Amino acid sequence: MKTIKNYHAPAGSVLCLENGSASCAVDLYSQEGFEMLSNLLIKVGAERRAMYDVSWLGRPIIQFPTDIVAIQELLWKIQPDVVVETGVAHGGSLIFAASILELIGKGRVIGVDIEIRPHNRQAIVAHPLAHRIHLIEGSSISRETLAQVRSQIQSGNRVVVFLDSNHTEEHVRKEMDLYSPIVSEDSYLVVHDGAQAWVGEIPSAKPEWLGNHPLAAIESFLAHNSEFTQDPHWTRFGITSSPCGFLKKQKPSTPSSFRP
Ligand SMILES: C[S@@+](CC[C@H](N)C(=O)[O-])C[C@H]1O[C@@H](n2cnc3c(N)ncnc32)[C@H](O)[C@@H]1O
Repeated sequence: MKTIKNYHAPAGSVLCLENGSASCAVDLYSQEGFEMLSNLLIKVGAERRAMYDVSWLGRPIIQFPTDIVAIQELLWKIQPDVVVETGVAHGGSLIFAASILELIGKGRVIGVDIEIRPHNRQAIVAHPLAHRIHLIEGSSISRETLAQVRSQIQSGNRVVVFLDSNHTEEHVRKEMDLYSPIVSEDSYLVVHDGAQAWVGEIPSAKPEWLGNHPLAAIESFLAHNSEFTQDPHWTRFGITSSPCGFLKKQKPSTPSSFRP
């Protein structure tokens, strides 16, 4: 029988990392130990392409399982009428959101992708949850695409937006500017793949990931948009491809002079 190896790690164990030029050692059971282990698992998981080996109700979904659980919690809490996701790929994330909406008993998922490959489109429209999904083919940052997305949203709808398409800083920042206005108050703009900033150094990384990633877009967006705040609750499991990416839209505050 093949078993997973158990490493003896009693209280007081120290986690050591050496990378040739530097080394560090932290208490395994401290907060820093948890953060270091999670961060390293993100890097090692990305190197092993762990997020490409996940499926939801038969369709590949390119997410860490911990993020899938967090998003399930978020959708159940928000009970949205409309979920918008840029970046469809194989359709797994659309099917996932649609399955939660099906249990909630309402809502539709709008999936946007610059290229929906015929075999993926076919599998999505043939899926038992297809009645909750609307596909739009086009660049997420084009005016025509945004107009099509907006046409699927009715006044008073509760809207959550997930951005998971092109992960360059410039593209993500444009998406954030274009899609943040359609997010409902007390709902979320979720920006995926900020971890690209951290995995830019793994052996199989693309050199362009370093310095050009969604995390940089999140930082510049938050510096100019005080109505959104980063909510760390949804990344508390540590292993996430979306660090700092769950942005809550605040209710506008009432000026103190208008308070009764
Ligand atoms: C990371 S995958 C999406 C993964 C999917 N959300 C999931 O969780 O399974 C990124 C997708 O973004 C799409 N994409 C790239 N550039 C885009 C753009 N400008 N507009 C819309 N989609 C784009 C790609 O075609 C690809 O299918």
